[in-house]
Amino acid sequence: MHLNKYQLFCLDYKDFFSKVEEASIDLAIIDPPYNLKVADWDKFKNHESFLSFTYDWIDMLIPKLKTTASFYVFNTPFNAAYILNYLVSKGLRFQNWIVWDKRDGFNYAKKKYVAWQETILFFTVSDKYTFNVDSVRVPYESTSRIEHAKKKGILKDGKRWYPNENGKLCGDIWNFSSERHKTKVNGKTQKTLHVTPKPLDMIERMVIASSNQQDLVLDCFMGSGTSAIAALKHKRDFIGNDKDESFVNYTKNRIDQFYESLHGGKHGTRVKQLPEMQESFNSY
Ligand SMILES: C[S@@+](CC[C@H](N)C(=O)[O-])C[C@H]1O[C@@H](n2cnc3c(N)ncnc32)[C@H](O)[C@@H]1O
Repeated sequence: MHLNKYQLFCLDYKDFFSKVEEASIDLAIIDPPYNLKVADWDKFKNHESFLSFTYDWIDMLIPKLKTTASFYVFNTPFNAAYILNYLVSKGLRFQNWIVWDKRDGFNYAKKKYVAWQETILFFTVSDKYTFNVDSVRVPYESTSRIEHAKKKGILKDGKRWYPNENGKLCGDIWNFSSERHKTKVNGKTQKTLHVTPKPLDMIERMVIASSNQQDLVLDCFMGSGTSAIAALKHKRDFIGNDKDESFVNYTKNRIDQFYESLHGGKHGTRVKQLPEMQESFNSY
């Protein structure tokens, strides 16, 4: 039986990347700072310094990816335009500009439209990559038409088309309520340890579509560890990092709880890699 392995680091991304083996990563899920000043880690002097930070982690990530790897990068639509341009200039393959409709504005806008979306860029290193298209189908919307089609099929180009039992192909507009929105009490946003946790079900979609069991998933800005849980839940290995010790500890606890909820915790092997933390951990 394969025991999924995970490694957690608590480093600046530059030091983290120097520890990652070249061409070892199957899937990277990168949710970096956006320069929206939502926390200290999200503050930059200006747009130029934000871009040089962004281009730097991209340059460090690229050699770590396998030639068959995929990666997803979050950001605002404005920043994503620069990031897309940079990734294309590096010879990476653009696949999708995914609009995450999060039903929860970043802030109030009185002189323009409120930003309800974030961008997720889906890129691959080459044209040869994993995409488990049937695993991420979504429910059909037009139910009466689909009921009719199930019985008799719909005539299309001279052939009868029958709906897929698992739903329609997944599109590039994703509706997932933000964690902030989901956890509101009486309409009020609750204080959480991390200010921008991503919805687990959304990250799971990326893991399921773009990797296979035992593949290695990387997240160099893992925050509350959503990508770690998504990877381990679907039996992928995981290597993650955040420069903030409290987030790394939070992720560790989240992983422990996840394994405890599964048959008493015997599913993962932990590789301890936290230079600033002296306590040691037993492997499962
Ligand atoms: C947008 S959050 C990630 C949230 C995460 N996806 C989640 O679901 O919780 C970005 C994270 O990057 C980390 N970070 C910012 N600058 C960093 C750096 N130079 N090196 C490593 N981590 C950094 C922050 O501490 C923060 O937790």
